[in-house]
Amino acid sequence: MKGLILSGGKGTRLYPLTYTRAKQLIPVANKPVLVRVIEAIRDAGVREIGIVVGYTAPEIEDALGDGSQWDVALSYIPQDSPDGLAHAVKISRDFLRDEPFVMFLGDNVIEGGISKLIIDFAENDWNSQIVLKEVENPEAYGVAQLRPDGSIERLIEKPKVPPSNLALVGIYMFDRHVFDAVDAIRPSARGEYEITDAIQWLIDQGHTVYPHIHRGWWIDTGKPTDMLEANSHVLEEILPCIAEGVTIDAGSTVDSRVTLQAGARIVNSILRGPTVIGQDTLIENSYIGPFTSIYHNCQIRNCEIERSIILENSRVIDIDHTLRDSLIGRNATVKRSAVKPSGIKMNLGDHSTLWV
Ligand code: DAU
Repeated sequence: MKGLILSGGKGTRLYPLTYTRAKQLIPVANKPVLVRVIEAIRDAGVREIGIVVGYTAPEIEDALGDGSQWDVALSYIPQDSPDGLAHAVKISRDFLRDEPFVMFLGDNVIEGGISKLIIDFAENDWNSQIVLKEVENPEAYGVAQLRPDGSIERLIEKPKVPPSNLALVGIYMFDRHVFDAVDAIRPSARGEYEITDAIQWLIDQGHTVYPHIHRGWWIDTGKPTDMLEANSHVLEEILPCIAEGVTIDAGSTVDSRVTLQAGARIVNSILRGPTVIGQDTLIENSYIGPFTSIYHNCQIRNCEIERSIILENSRVIDIDHTLRDSLIGRNATVKRSAVKPSGIKMNLGDHSTLWV
Protein backbone atom coordinates (compact mmCIF):
# COMPACT_ATOMS: atom_id res chain seq x y z
CA MET A 1 0.00 0.00 0.00
CA LYS A 2 1.19 3.53 -0.79
CA GLY A 3 0.24 6.90 0.63
CA LEU A 4 -0.76 10.03 -1.29
CA ILE A 5 -0.96 13.39 0.46
CA LEU A 6 -2.55 16.37 -1.28
CA SER A 7 -0.72 19.53 -0.45
CA GLY A 8 -1.32 21.79 -3.44
CA GLY A 9 -4.23 24.23 -3.61
CA LYS A 10 -4.39 27.90 -2.62
CA GLY A 11 -5.45 28.22 1.03
CA THR A 12 -7.31 31.49 0.39
CA ARG A 13 -9.49 31.13 3.50
CA LEU A 14 -6.40 31.40 5.70
CA TYR A 15 -5.17 34.70 4.21
CA PRO A 16 -3.01 36.56 5.20
CA LEU A 17 -1.05 33.67 6.75
CA THR A 18 -1.10 31.71 3.51
CA TYR A 19 0.18 34.58 1.34
CA THR A 20 3.62 33.63 2.54
CA ARG A 21 3.23 30.05 3.67
CA ALA A 22 1.66 26.78 2.56
CA LYS A 23 -1.46 26.27 4.70
CA GLN A 24 -0.47 22.66 5.37
CA LEU A 25 2.70 23.88 7.13
CA ILE A 26 0.89 25.96 9.73
CA PRO A 27 1.48 24.22 13.07
CA VAL A 28 -1.17 22.83 15.37
CA ALA A 29 0.21 22.26 18.91
CA ASN A 30 3.59 23.33 17.50
CA LYS A 31 3.70 20.68 14.75
CA PRO A 32 2.78 21.38 11.10
CA VAL A 33 -0.50 19.73 10.05
CA LEU A 34 1.35 18.07 7.15
CA VAL A 35 3.78 16.40 9.56
CA ARG A 36 0.81 15.09 11.58
CA VAL A 37 -0.58 13.60 8.34
CA ILE A 38 2.77 11.94 7.48
CA GLU A 39 2.98 10.47 11.00
CA ALA A 40 -0.59 9.13 10.83
CA ILE A 41 0.17 7.34 7.54
CA ARG A 42 3.51 6.02 8.83
CA ASP A 43 1.93 4.79 12.07
CA ALA A 44 -0.50 2.76 9.93
CA GLY A 45 2.50 0.97 8.39
CA VAL A 46 2.68 2.84 5.06
CA ARG A 47 6.19 4.18 4.30
CA GLU A 48 6.15 5.11 0.59
CA ILE A 49 4.35 8.42 0.31
CA GLY A 50 3.77 10.77 -2.63
CA ILE A 51 3.01 14.44 -1.93
CA VAL A 52 1.13 16.43 -4.55
CA VAL A 53 2.49 19.98 -4.46
CA GLY A 54 1.55 23.23 -6.18
CA TYR A 55 3.17 26.66 -6.17
CA THR A 56 4.32 26.22 -2.54
CA ALA A 57 6.44 23.19 -3.55
CA PRO A 58 9.86 24.71 -2.64
CA GLU A 59 8.70 25.55 0.89
CA ILE A 60 7.15 22.12 1.43
CA GLU A 61 10.19 20.27 0.08
CA ASP A 62 12.43 22.43 2.24
CA ALA A 63 10.41 21.54 5.36
CA LEU A 64 10.05 17.79 4.70
CA GLY A 65 13.08 16.78 2.62
CA ASP A 66 13.21 13.10 1.71
CA GLY A 67 11.08 12.15 4.72
CA SER A 68 13.85 10.19 6.49
CA GLN A 69 13.33 12.31 9.60
CA TRP A 70 9.94 10.57 9.96
CA ASP A 71 11.20 7.23 8.70
CA VAL A 72 9.26 7.42 5.40
CA ALA A 73 10.29 7.85 1.75
CA LEU A 74 8.71 10.96 0.20
CA SER A 75 8.27 11.63 -3.53
CA TYR A 76 7.04 15.01 -4.74
CA ILE A 77 4.45 15.13 -7.50
CA PRO A 78 4.07 18.62 -9.03
CA GLN A 79 0.56 19.75 -10.00
CA ASP A 80 0.67 22.70 -12.42
CA SER A 81 -2.66 24.13 -11.29
CA PRO A 82 -5.12 23.14 -8.54
CA ASP A 83 -7.60 21.45 -10.86
CA GLY A 84 -9.17 19.27 -8.20
CA LEU A 85 -8.60 16.26 -5.99
CA ALA A 86 -9.38 13.77 -8.77
CA HIS A 87 -6.89 15.59 -11.01
CA ALA A 88 -4.28 15.14 -8.27
CA VAL A 89 -4.94 11.37 -8.34
CA LYS A 90 -4.68 11.32 -12.13
CA ILE A 91 -1.23 12.95 -12.19
CA SER A 92 0.00 10.59 -9.45
CA ARG A 93 -0.52 7.43 -11.49
CA ASP A 94 3.17 6.88 -12.30
CA PHE A 95 3.99 7.03 -8.60
CA LEU A 96 1.07 4.86 -7.45
CA ARG A 97 1.25 2.32 -10.30
CA ASP A 98 -1.43 -0.30 -9.69
CA GLU A 99 -1.03 -0.51 -5.93
CA PRO A 100 -3.86 0.26 -3.52
CA PHE A 101 -3.31 3.56 -1.75
CA VAL A 102 -4.57 5.80 1.02
CA MET A 103 -5.14 9.42 0.06
CA PHE A 104 -5.04 11.98 2.89
CA LEU A 105 -5.75 15.67 2.40
CA GLY A 106 -2.80 17.61 3.79
CA ASP A 107 -4.98 20.03 5.75
CA ASN A 108 -7.06 17.45 7.66
CA VAL A 109 -6.54 16.56 11.32
CA ILE A 110 -8.33 13.50 12.73
CA GLU A 111 -8.59 11.84 16.12
CA GLY A 112 -7.22 8.36 16.57
CA GLY A 113 -5.10 7.79 13.46
CA ILE A 114 -5.90 5.61 10.44
CA SER A 115 -4.40 2.18 11.31
CA LYS A 116 -7.79 0.53 11.77
CA LEU A 117 -9.02 1.93 8.44
CA ILE A 118 -5.98 0.55 6.60
CA ILE A 119 -6.40 -2.90 8.19
CA ASP A 120 -10.12 -2.97 7.30
CA PHE A 121 -9.33 -2.02 3.70
CA ALA A 122 -6.62 -4.69 3.41
CA GLU A 123 -8.88 -7.40 4.88
CA ASN A 124 -11.89 -6.73 2.65
CA ASP A 125 -12.29 -6.80 -1.10
CA TRP A 126 -13.63 -3.27 -1.33
CA ASN A 127 -12.51 -1.12 -4.28
CA SER A 128 -12.61 1.99 -2.14
CA GLN A 129 -13.26 3.04 1.42
CA ILE A 130 -14.38 6.53 2.37
CA VAL A 131 -14.70 8.15 5.79
CA LEU A 132 -17.81 10.04 6.85
CA LYS A 133 -18.49 12.25 9.83
CA GLU A 134 -21.70 13.85 11.10
CA VAL A 135 -21.30 17.64 10.98
CA GLU A 136 -23.45 20.72 11.58
CA ASN A 137 -22.57 22.41 8.26
CA PRO A 138 -22.56 19.66 5.62
CA GLU A 139 -22.95 22.21 2.80
CA ALA A 140 -19.24 23.07 3.28
CA TYR A 141 -18.12 19.55 2.32
CA GLY A 142 -18.75 16.59 0.09
CA VAL A 143 -21.91 14.93 1.46
CA ALA A 144 -23.05 11.28 1.42
CA GLN A 145 -26.60 9.99 1.29
CA LEU A 146 -26.85 6.44 2.60
CA ARG A 147 -29.49 3.77 1.95
CA PRO A 148 -31.32 2.15 4.91
CA ASP A 149 -28.83 -0.77 4.73
CA GLY A 150 -25.91 1.67 5.24
CA SER A 151 -24.56 1.49 1.67
CA ILE A 152 -23.94 4.69 -0.31
CA GLU A 153 -26.74 5.92 -2.52
CA ARG A 154 -25.02 9.07 -3.77
CA LEU A 155 -22.30 11.61 -3.07
CA ILE A 156 -22.55 15.34 -3.79
CA GLU A 157 -19.84 17.98 -3.53
CA LYS A 158 -20.84 21.00 -1.39
CA PRO A 159 -24.61 20.76 -2.02
CA LYS A 160 -26.75 23.87 -1.34
CA VAL A 161 -29.41 21.61 0.18
CA PRO A 162 -27.54 18.69 1.80
CA PRO A 163 -29.40 15.35 1.75
CA SER A 164 -27.77 14.37 5.08
CA ASN A 165 -25.34 15.63 7.71
CA LEU A 166 -22.65 13.11 6.74
CA ALA A 167 -19.57 14.92 5.41
CA LEU A 168 -16.74 13.28 3.50
CA VAL A 169 -13.59 13.38 5.62
CA GLY A 170 -10.36 13.98 3.65
CA ILE A 171 -9.18 10.36 3.92
CA TYR A 172 -9.88 7.89 1.11
CA MET A 173 -8.68 4.43 0.14
CA PHE A 174 -8.64 3.18 -3.44
CA ASP A 175 -7.55 0.32 -5.63
CA ARG A 176 -6.52 0.77 -9.29
CA HIS A 177 -10.13 1.21 -10.50
CA VAL A 178 -10.02 4.83 -9.37
CA PHE A 179 -7.84 5.62 -12.42
CA ASP A 180 -10.72 4.64 -14.73
CA ALA A 181 -12.97 6.89 -12.66
CA VAL A 182 -10.72 9.98 -12.80
CA ASP A 183 -10.37 9.50 -16.58
CA ALA A 184 -14.13 9.25 -17.03
CA ILE A 185 -15.40 12.28 -15.09
CA ARG A 186 -15.77 15.88 -16.34
CA PRO A 187 -14.98 19.09 -14.38
CA SER A 188 -17.68 20.26 -11.95
CA ALA A 189 -19.48 23.63 -12.03
CA ARG A 190 -16.57 25.13 -10.03
CA GLY A 191 -14.17 23.86 -12.71
CA GLU A 192 -12.52 21.11 -10.65
CA TYR A 193 -12.19 17.36 -11.18
CA GLU A 194 -13.98 16.31 -7.98
CA ILE A 195 -12.97 13.16 -6.12
CA THR A 196 -16.61 12.99 -5.02
CA ASP A 197 -17.65 12.54 -8.69
CA ALA A 198 -14.94 9.91 -9.22
CA ILE A 199 -16.23 7.89 -6.24
CA GLN A 200 -19.82 8.28 -7.49
CA TRP A 201 -18.60 6.90 -10.84
CA LEU A 202 -17.13 3.85 -9.06
CA ILE A 203 -20.49 3.24 -7.35
CA ASP A 204 -22.43 3.67 -10.61
CA GLN A 205 -20.13 1.12 -12.31
CA GLY A 206 -20.91 -1.45 -9.62
CA HIS A 207 -17.63 -1.19 -7.68
CA THR A 208 -17.71 -1.54 -3.90
CA VAL A 209 -17.22 1.65 -1.90
CA TYR A 210 -17.43 1.11 1.86
CA PRO A 211 -18.45 4.06 4.04
CA HIS A 212 -16.78 4.13 7.45
CA ILE A 213 -18.45 6.49 9.92
CA HIS A 214 -15.87 8.23 12.10
CA ARG A 215 -16.94 8.82 15.73
CA GLY A 216 -14.04 10.94 17.01
CA TRP A 217 -13.30 14.54 16.16
CA TRP A 218 -12.17 15.65 12.70
CA ILE A 219 -11.13 19.08 11.49
CA ASP A 220 -10.53 20.43 8.00
CA THR A 221 -8.20 23.32 8.92
CA GLY A 222 -9.52 25.62 6.21
CA LYS A 223 -10.25 28.71 8.33
CA PRO A 224 -8.59 30.39 11.36
CA THR A 225 -11.40 29.19 13.66
CA ASP A 226 -10.75 25.62 12.46
CA MET A 227 -7.04 25.98 13.26
CA LEU A 228 -7.88 27.10 16.82
CA GLU A 229 -10.29 24.22 17.27
CA ALA A 230 -7.80 21.67 15.93
CA ASN A 231 -5.16 23.18 18.20
CA SER A 232 -7.40 22.72 21.26
CA HIS A 233 -8.20 19.09 20.39
CA VAL A 234 -4.57 18.13 19.75
CA LEU A 235 -3.31 19.92 22.86
CA GLU A 236 -5.77 17.90 24.94
CA GLU A 237 -4.38 14.68 23.43
CA ILE A 238 -0.63 15.20 23.70
CA LEU A 239 1.37 13.90 26.62
CA PRO A 240 2.87 16.98 28.31
CA CYS A 241 6.63 17.07 28.76
CA ILE A 242 9.36 19.47 29.76
CA ALA A 243 12.43 19.33 27.53
CA GLU A 244 16.03 19.74 28.59
CA GLY A 245 17.41 23.22 28.83
CA VAL A 246 14.11 24.75 29.97
CA THR A 247 14.27 27.31 32.77
CA ILE A 248 11.38 28.11 35.11
CA ASP A 249 12.13 30.68 37.80
CA ALA A 250 10.86 30.51 41.39
CA GLY A 251 8.20 33.15 40.74
CA SER A 252 6.43 31.07 38.06
CA THR A 253 3.67 28.45 38.25
CA VAL A 254 3.51 25.89 35.44
CA ASP A 255 0.77 23.27 35.71
CA SER A 256 1.16 19.62 34.79
CA ARG A 257 -0.56 19.91 31.40
CA VAL A 258 2.02 22.31 29.95
CA THR A 259 4.64 21.23 27.39
CA LEU A 260 7.85 23.25 27.30
CA GLN A 261 10.20 22.72 24.36
CA ALA A 262 14.00 22.97 24.51
CA GLY A 263 15.34 26.31 25.66
CA ALA A 264 11.97 27.83 26.67
CA ARG A 265 12.34 30.37 29.50
CA ILE A 266 9.53 31.08 31.95
CA VAL A 267 10.00 34.11 34.19
CA ASN A 268 7.50 35.31 36.82
CA SER A 269 4.56 33.86 34.87
CA ILE A 270 1.56 31.57 35.24
CA LEU A 271 1.05 28.85 32.61
CA ARG A 272 -2.15 26.76 32.54
CA GLY A 273 -2.39 23.76 30.22
CA PRO A 274 -3.06 22.22 27.91
CA THR A 275 -0.54 24.57 26.37
CA VAL A 276 2.75 24.31 24.49
CA ILE A 277 5.63 26.77 24.50
CA GLY A 278 8.18 26.46 21.67
CA GLN A 279 11.95 26.31 21.55
CA ASP A 280 13.83 29.33 22.91
CA THR A 281 10.61 31.24 23.57
CA LEU A 282 10.57 33.66 26.48
CA ILE A 283 7.44 34.11 28.63
CA GLU A 284 7.90 36.91 31.16
CA ASN A 285 5.47 38.53 33.64
CA SER A 286 2.60 36.92 31.76
CA TYR A 287 -0.35 34.56 32.05
CA ILE A 288 -0.68 31.90 29.33
CA GLY A 289 -4.04 30.20 29.58
CA PRO A 290 -5.34 26.84 28.32
CA PHE A 291 -5.38 25.80 24.65
CA THR A 292 -2.53 28.07 23.61
CA SER A 293 0.40 27.19 21.33
CA ILE A 294 3.31 29.59 21.15
CA TYR A 295 5.91 28.55 18.60
CA HIS A 296 9.70 28.90 18.53
CA ASN A 297 11.73 32.03 19.28
CA CYS A 298 8.83 34.17 20.48
CA GLN A 299 8.82 36.80 23.21
CA ILE A 300 5.73 37.23 25.36
CA ARG A 301 6.09 39.92 28.03
CA ASN A 302 3.56 41.57 30.33
CA CYS A 303 0.42 40.14 28.80
CA GLU A 304 -2.32 37.51 29.08
CA ILE A 305 -3.07 35.04 26.30
CA GLU A 306 -5.74 32.33 26.07
CA ARG A 307 -6.80 29.84 23.37
CA SER A 308 -4.50 31.25 20.70
CA ILE A 309 -1.79 30.24 18.24
CA ILE A 310 1.32 32.39 17.83
CA LEU A 311 3.84 31.46 15.14
CA GLU A 312 7.62 31.71 15.21
CA ASN A 313 9.71 34.80 15.94
CA SER A 314 6.72 36.89 17.02
CA ARG A 315 6.53 39.29 19.96
CA VAL A 316 3.54 40.21 22.13
CA ILE A 317 4.53 42.85 24.64
CA ASP A 318 2.78 45.09 27.23
CA ILE A 319 -0.80 44.40 26.15
CA ASP A 320 -3.47 45.37 28.74
CA HIS A 321 -6.33 43.24 27.39
CA THR A 322 -6.37 39.46 27.33
CA LEU A 323 -5.51 38.19 23.87
CA ARG A 324 -8.02 35.42 23.16
CA ASP A 325 -9.03 33.23 20.17
CA SER A 326 -6.24 34.80 18.13
CA LEU A 327 -4.00 33.54 15.34
CA ILE A 328 -0.79 35.55 14.93
CA GLY A 329 1.62 34.84 12.06
CA ARG A 330 5.41 34.73 11.89
CA ASN A 331 7.70 37.66 12.75
CA ALA A 332 4.71 39.70 13.94
CA THR A 333 4.81 42.33 16.69
CA VAL A 334 1.87 43.25 18.94
CA LYS A 335 2.99 45.95 21.33
CA ARG A 336 1.66 48.84 23.38
CA SER A 337 3.04 52.16 22.25
CA ALA A 338 3.78 55.02 24.67
CA VAL A 339 4.10 57.56 21.86
CA LYS A 340 1.51 60.40 21.79
CA PRO A 341 -1.00 61.00 20.29
CA SER A 342 -2.41 57.79 21.70
CA GLY A 343 -4.75 55.53 19.77
CA ILE A 344 -4.62 52.22 17.94
CA LYS A 345 -1.92 52.03 15.30
CA MET A 346 -1.68 49.11 12.95
CA ASN A 347 0.31 47.74 10.14
CA LEU A 348 -1.82 44.82 8.95
CA GLY A 349 -1.24 42.63 5.93
CA ASP A 350 -3.89 42.20 3.21
CA HIS A 351 -6.96 40.23 4.35
CA SER A 352 -6.05 40.66 8.04
CA THR A 353 -8.76 41.02 10.68
CA LEU A 354 -8.42 43.02 13.89
CA TRP A 355 -11.17 42.99 16.57
CA VAL A 356 -11.01 45.89 19.05
O1 DAU B 1 -11.74 18.25 3.98
C1 DAU B 1 -12.73 17.44 3.43
C2 DAU B 1 -13.26 18.00 2.13
O2 DAU B 1 -12.11 18.18 1.26
C3 DAU B 1 -14.28 17.05 1.50
O3 DAU B 1 -15.46 16.99 2.28
C4 DAU B 1 -14.63 17.49 0.09
O4 DAU B 1 -15.47 16.54 -0.51
C5 DAU B 1 -13.36 17.64 -0.75
O5 DAU B 1 -13.65 18.13 -2.05
C6 DAU B 1 -12.39 18.60 -0.07
O6 DAU B 1 -12.96 19.90 -0.08
P1 DAU B 1 -12.14 21.24 0.18
O7 DAU B 1 -12.84 22.36 -0.50
O8 DAU B 1 -11.90 21.38 1.65
O9 DAU B 1 -10.76 20.95 -0.56
P2 DAU B 1 -9.53 21.93 -0.67
O10 DAU B 1 -9.61 22.73 -1.92
O11 DAU B 1 -9.34 22.67 0.63
O12 DAU B 1 -8.32 20.91 -0.85
C7 DAU B 1 -8.04 19.91 0.10
C8 DAU B 1 -6.53 19.61 0.09
O13 DAU B 1 -6.09 19.17 -1.19
C9 DAU B 1 -5.64 20.80 0.45
O14 DAU B 1 -4.55 20.34 1.22
C10 DAU B 1 -5.16 21.32 -0.89
C11 DAU B 1 -5.08 20.04 -1.73
N1 DAU B 1 -5.36 20.23 -3.16
C12 DAU B 1 -6.54 20.79 -3.55
C13 DAU B 1 -6.86 20.93 -4.89
C14 DAU B 1 -8.17 21.54 -5.33
C15 DAU B 1 -4.44 19.77 -4.11
O15 DAU B 1 -3.35 19.26 -3.74
N2 DAU B 1 -4.74 19.92 -5.43
C16 DAU B 1 -5.90 20.48 -5.88
O16 DAU B 1 -6.12 20.57 -7.11
